[in-house]
Amino acid sequence: MQIMADQLASLIDASKLPSHIAVIMDGNGRWAKQNGQPRIFGHHNGVKAVREVTEACAELGVPWLTLYAFSTENWKRPAMEVSGLMGLLVETVKNEMLTLLKNDIRLHTIGDISKLPNSTRLALEDAIQQTANNKRMTLTLALNYSARWEILDAVNKLVKTHAHQTVSESDFTEAMSGAGIPDPELLIRTSGEKRISNFLLWQCAYTELYFTETLWPDFRKQHLYEAILNFQQRERRFGKISEQLI
Ligand code: IPE
Ligand code: IPE
Ligand code: MG
Repeated sequence: MQIMADQLASLIDASKLPSHIAVIMDGNGRWAKQNGQPRIFGHHNGVKAVREVTEACAELGVPWLTLYAFSTENWKRPAMEVSGLMGLLVETVKNEMLTLLKNDIRLHTIGDISKLPNSTRLALEDAIQQTANNKRMTLTLALNYSARWEILDAVNKLVKTHAHQTVSESDFTEAMSGAGIPDPELLIRTSGEKRISNFLLWQCAYTELYFTETLWPDFRKQHLYEAILNFQQRERRFGKISEQLI
């Protein structure tokens, strides 16, 4: 497994790395079910995949990584699963603090974290503050996030600040929760589902989409390298024709 991962990594063209990878981490519940365990067991086992992907991006030199961890719609899940997830977040953020600091990784969030339980919000705010000056990579967790919320939130801010004015694309992106984060070049979704589930709708206008059957708790560096290699084979035309790209 390690040899295979190293071989795949050696095939990656370092000059053509995506600078922002976003991931819809999906399949924890199904993974738990396959193992005859409650859903929260799948979420706990997803933490290793988060660690692997973060480490792999830092090693490769991908400066932006965004992970969809909890959607606005996920509040509709059974209360026990929601509270289990909120507790897991606190535990993970606290456990990973030293690793983030040691590896010069800045923690960031998008979404409305003011609505998270106090203990979760405080743990996040503490980690965000402690890692604020880290430079190697920004790890953004999308929490209580939905793209429609983000778009409407920006519109509502702009209505106040730009009443009766024309709003430019840059005014709009600056008003968004994810202001300052470049658009993702590669979006990965695990678990075989092929949908966006209200994630980064504005930012994914020209993003390359990659879907894999692998369930999130099974996702390892090797799978990330496969996604990046697949991305590097694509021709990104942005409306032009091939001949204009040279
Ligand atoms: C993704 O796994 C994690 C979150 C949405 C928090 P799921 O919990 O959605 O797993 P499945 O899709 O039910 O297998
Ligand atoms: C999307 O996964 C949200 C996160 C990964 C946090 P879901 O499992 O909630 O998506 P749907 O509901 O199946 O589309
Ligand atoms: Mg799911």
